[in-house]
Amino acid sequence: MERTLSIIKPDGVSRGLIGDVIKKIEGRGLKIVAMKMLHLTPAEARGFYAVHRERPFFEGLTTFMSSGPAVVMVLGGDNAIARWRELMGATDYRKAAEGTIRREFATDIEKNVVHGSDAPETAAFEIGYFFNRLEIFV
Ligand code: CMP
Repeated sequence: MERTLSIIKPDGVSRGLIGDVIKKIEGRGLKIVAMKMLHLTPAEARGFYAVHRERPFFEGLTTFMSSGPAVVMVLGGDNAIARWRELMGATDYRKAAEGTIRREFATDIEKNVVHGSDAPETAAFEIGYFFNRLEIFV
């Protein structure tokens, strides 16, 4: 079983989309094996997105990600990383396929409702950023 990190970003939480996103995750057969709600500090958001620190959108992204509570989850299943990315849709909601979360709900390339790890190494880093072993249920 593969694991990936999923975040319902502050825009998704404030717009009341937690239930819609979870319904799609479970409907697609991905298993939620860990979950918590937290409000990142700007420093925590910068640490999480450190790989993007040279990008022009880094400041805006980390300010947004620390603007309100988010829901972080670990999803498990065969091919969980690719399946969760497919269900989220492209980063730019205008390019996201029909039926994806971003196509349905996102309104902005930055405020794009959800996040997902993009590879096994990033998944390991991102899961470890938020969860310890005792908080993940197989
Ligand atoms: P996410 O999948 O969380 O990974 C990095 C995030 O940076 C991305 O979703 C968007 O929220 C944000 N992002 C990526 N590209 C841009 C962009 N061109 N402008 C603003 N934000 C972006």
